[in-house]
Amino acid sequence: MEADISANSFERASKESRLLGRDEQFRCLAEDLVRSPEYDTIRGLSHHDASLADHSVAVAYYAFVIARRLGFRRNLVELARGALLHDFFHYDWRVSRPRSGGLHGFDHPREALENAETAYGPLSRLERDIVLRHMWPLTPIPPRYAESIIVCIVDKAVSIGESWRSLRSGKGLGVL
Ligand SMILES: [Fe+2]
Ligand SMILES: [Fe+2]
Repeated sequence: MEADISANSFERASKESRLLGRDEQFRCLAEDLVRSPEYDTIRGLSHHDASLADHSVAVAYYAFVIARRLGFRRNLVELARGALLHDFFHYDWRVSRPRSGGLHGFDHPREALENAETAYGPLSRLERDIVLRHMWPLTPIPPRYAESIIVCIVDKAVSIGESWRSLRSGKGLGVL
């Protein structure tokens, strides 16, 4: 599976670049983090029909555009950063489990937060909420902030689109 990803690394990098290039404000907010060496850890991991980096950049981009369209102005940097890091886990979710040994769907937000704070330092309260609560209602505690709710909804919409494309291409859905 990883060989498949690396074989298409140029195309996948192009997907990220395309999203970054669509909006100048988003590119300015997101580029430093996406281009950082630490972000390579999720660039080689698969997520439905995309890499985990493609998925995360897509969630951040659409959440950012929707929030700005709704009139959000103050917390757009934190929204973008939280969304870019919401799935910052470092294992293949189709064949491995989180460090906790629990189920991926329930435990990866905590692991993503730990990895993100190790790589990039302490996250803000809003960024932490975006990462920890993005799997609600599968995980019981709901998002606390409007920005977290937007990311939570956009993550599901992007994942459904990726799953649909993965099914149509015959790759299947994987597991929680
Ligand atoms: Fe997730
Ligand atoms: Fe996600």
